Amino acid sequence: MLFELNNGVKIPVIGLGTWQSTPDEVYNAVTEALAVGYRHIDTAFAYGNEEPIGRAIRDSVIPRNELFVTTKLWSTHHHDPAKALDISLKNLGLDYVDLYLVHWPVAMNPNGNDPKFPSRPDGTRDVDESTNFVETWAKMQQLDPKKVRAIGVSNMSISNLEKLLSAPSTKVVPVVNQVELHPLLPQPNLLKWCQDHKIYLEAYSPLGSTDSPLLSNPTIVELAEKYQVPPATVLISWAIWRKTIVLPKSVTPARIKSNFNVVHLSEADGNIIDKVAHEYGTKRFINPDWGVKIFDDADA
Ligand code: A2P
Repeated sequence: MLFELNNGVKIPVIGLGTWQSTPDEVYNAVTEALAVGYRHIDTAFAYGNEEPIGRAIRDSVIPRNELFVTTKLWSTHHHDPAKALDISLKNLGLDYVDLYLVHWPVAMNPNGNDPKFPSRPDGTRDVDESTNFVETWAKMQQLDPKKVRAIGVSNMSISNLEKLLSAPSTKVVPVVNQVELHPLLPQPNLLKWCQDHKIYLEAYSPLGSTDSPLLSNPTIVELAEKYQVPPATVLISWAIWRKTIVLPKSVTPARIKSNFNVVHLSEADGNIIDKVAHEYGTKRFINPDWGVKIFDDADA
């Protein structure tokens, strides 16, 4: 199943997530995913696994135009997205990516004490205050269209999106906003805002990340029994039911396969999952300390 992005590019609704998939694991994970039907792979420069992912894609011999590949601009590269994109394309061994995202709305010092996670002498992140994500986006808009078919953002709150879209330099509306989304963090306000602005949400950590309590959540388990599928399938199916793109991560062949076989949830059951956070509380699993405000409780 495909969704059409606001620039006309079509995206497969399920993509393989690869954060925390090691270079050794990820080649087999991508090979397995492509063999069982996935056509969408999500990676990032910062994951350190673009090279084996690109190799698995090329070795699959699936025509490139049947695949959808996403990678992301890392925070130490905000000053030069064109150069960063070239590095990612070289790592992947591809001529273009389908989607290039600004990974976090915060720039870090490109000349700091670490290429990915520079820190200041006091241990806090070495944020580059000489620029901001509006300037980064202006540069994203200038990327060579032969190297990237669509551009988007990640980890953006409504208030940051408002800042971005109201800036005079913003001429292109991001096609997606990739954020943490699952029944314990459904972010209905962010979803509605993005839908109103023709921005698809992409769900990362849709299962609730590593050792997720969602897989044993009584509401999810009950629905899994009803539909005769694993709990993870209920979570992935709910993400699609609410019209988000979903990026389950796995390096386990049986899970990669079962995660791709979604079910059609009834309206009533989708609505039940919508209320899980009311009963069990809201939980954000991924919340790195950037030293600047990224997330906003108003979105959830
Ligand atoms: P593994 O990669 O070892 O298979 P998320 O997508 O929310 O980040 O969740 C990823 C975590 O969920 C990983 O620990 C992954 O383990 C695990 N996982 C992925 N698919 C399933 C599944 N179908 N059942 C149980 N756990 C799963």
